[in-house]
Amino acid sequence: MWLSGGRMASVGRQSFGSCFRVLGRRGCNTAAVMPEAAGFEGVSDRSDLQDFSVCSSDSFWAAVARQRLSWIRPFHTVQDCDLSQGRIRWFEGGKLNVSVNCLDRHVHTCPERVAVIWERDEPKSEVKLSYRQLLEMTCRLGNLLRRRGVKKGDCVTIYMPPCPLAVASMLACARIGAAHNVVFAGFSADALAERIRDAQSSTVITVNQGVRGGKVIELKKTVDAAIQSCPTVQQVFVAMRTENPVVMTAKDVAMEEEMAKEDTVCEPAGMDSEDTLFLLYTSGSTGKPKGLVHTQAGYLLYAALTHRYVFSYHDGDVFSCVADIGWITGHSYSVYGPLANGGTTVLFESTPIYPDPGRYWEMVQRLKINQFYGAPTAIRLLLKYGDKWVHKYDRSTLKTLGSVGEPINTEAWEWYHRVVGQGRCPVVDTWWQTETGGICIAPRPADPDAEIVPGMAMRPFFGIKPVLMDTEVYGSSFVTSNDTSGALCIAQPWPGMARTIHNDPQRFTETYCQPYPGYFFTGDGAYRSKEGYYQITGRLDDVINVSGHRIGTAEIEDVLNQCSAVAESAVIGFSHSIKGQGIYAFVVLKKSIDVQEADVTRQINDMASKKIAKYACPDYIQFAQRLPKTRSGKIMRRVLRKVVDSELEGLGDLSTLDDPEVVQEIIQGHHDLL
Ligand code: WTA
Repeated sequence: MWLSGGRMASVGRQSFGSCFRVLGRRGCNTAAVMPEAAGFEGVSDRSDLQDFSVCSSDSFWAAVARQRLSWIRPFHTVQDCDLSQGRIRWFEGGKLNVSVNCLDRHVHTCPERVAVIWERDEPKSEVKLSYRQLLEMTCRLGNLLRRRGVKKGDCVTIYMPPCPLAVASMLACARIGAAHNVVFAGFSADALAERIRDAQSSTVITVNQGVRGGKVIELKKTVDAAIQSCPTVQQVFVAMRTENPVVMTAKDVAMEEEMAKEDTVCEPAGMDSEDTLFLLYTSGSTGKPKGLVHTQAGYLLYAALTHRYVFSYHDGDVFSCVADIGWITGHSYSVYGPLANGGTTVLFESTPIYPDPGRYWEMVQRLKINQFYGAPTAIRLLLKYGDKWVHKYDRSTLKTLGSVGEPINTEAWEWYHRVVGQGRCPVVDTWWQTETGGICIAPRPADPDAEIVPGMAMRPFFGIKPVLMDTEVYGSSFVTSNDTSGALCIAQPWPGMARTIHNDPQRFTETYCQPYPGYFFTGDGAYRSKEGYYQITGRLDDVINVSGHRIGTAEIEDVLNQCSAVAESAVIGFSHSIKGQGIYAFVVLKKSIDVQEADVTRQINDMASKKIAKYACPDYIQFAQRLPKTRSGKIMRRVLRKVVDSELEGLGDLSTLDDPEVVQEIIQGHHDLL
């Protein structure tokens, strides 16, 4: 039985603003803002609703979950969370099926509505699928997976570019209760293998070849290479993206052929709210990527709600998130959020400059896109090509422009707003992470006329309570004043947050819950303005963001150190005009080996592409005799960062350095390189 607000009297430890009590289910005019909010006593405007969602978070989320999701069995407990222990559980007792929420219920009401528009790499060759067609595709695949032995609780690895079959693969897993592990199809065989092994997948789904920017990418061959070191893999489903045949081995299954033999009805598995929906690997500050675990109900609810309100998505709109499905942005805003809302979602397979820098805007005109969600790195790139590529196309359908993945600088923000959006579309700079499941800080939801400051993520989403911690002292209390900076934490749980790290729950608690006990630590720094608006200032750990791709400097160092001539290395992020951050590597060669620096550079680039992905190749490699170290032997990255940023006055206290002369050598080497 669903217990109406069983824990609804609970209030966050430190609350903002006034607190509310739910007295009954009488309506208020907030219903116009958010229909789910009708009945929240004492809530009469958006600001009240925001306070209510934080102070009476259980009542808020219970009402929203009951109205937004279709349940097989109602939940009995809204949440059972203790952030200090790393325990996060939402909607327990409830049973549902995510694919039913994303497909069947819309097929029931509007079967012919377009669910997915596949914007293929080949310009002007889009393919549309209705909800009915996507459900059929998902069911056939669900039946095939079941017939080939995939069971509830298994984890299927998906290595595919954005396409309807990739979406159907994700949803087919959800339908039969298997978890999915989508690996970005730009990752190398080694990176894919590491993720398959950690997830212990016995099934991999891929395509024969990918096509991007007019180039063919040998995805099946990459899978063949990867599974050499993955003893768990028993079968590989291969879909045909191009007409070129590939060598099929005994493990390979011709996916479309086999799907054609399956029934279009597939019994959905009843899943507990807290069963795993997917793993998604992301980088942290150590060399090993972590498989964050997202579960069924809370994740889906949060993706759907943020999609609806941050972007002001309405029925009939065409929503386009141009991120790859291999990242969390693609999961939440190309797939789960829009489909849970019965929306039309565009899957973008190409690049912003193929066949020319007008690609996005020509697509906006042709597909009549209403919300466009992209990355600052692409905006900065397009800005350099000039306004004419934008002006060529009609963008009058656009209503909201979104930005994600890295800070958006003011120049890019202004251009996006003024040139792309003709000054009439709000730009929503959305801050969030793989760990948060969905957008946590963004200008919306707020009054349509509410102020948006360029380059600021602005306001917390419903149910989110950001706090800034003193970065000097772990475990201290949060800073309450405005016009201040600190470590960005979130003070209370929300349904979309990751639950743990696959195979390593302790790392989850240590990374996110222990630095500031009782708070979720994001790893980012933020500034809160005089007005109380948030601006993200960047990572506080050794994670960098290259063209919106998150990567740990330790991951790159691990690869560099595997090169035979390299004795040691240190990798630093630096400010890059297009990529946001670039990679700067300091490399010390082994004294005993006689090699040319040019050969080592080539070897390093080959290794970085082979072990991780192309974007992990350093922009600069500075060969040094030695690195600045403390007497205890720790590399002083702070010094390296200052040298690379040309902030030589700010080198700080060098008294702990083993040999201060090293700094001069490093400065000289940096000068010589540039
Ligand atoms: C950064 C992507 C500034 C941040 C959704 C975060 C941002 C990391 C923004 C997560 C933004 C994301 N402004 N920085 N609007 N959005 N970031 O897991 O450092 O790939 O911690 O998730 O990207 O990257 P991830």
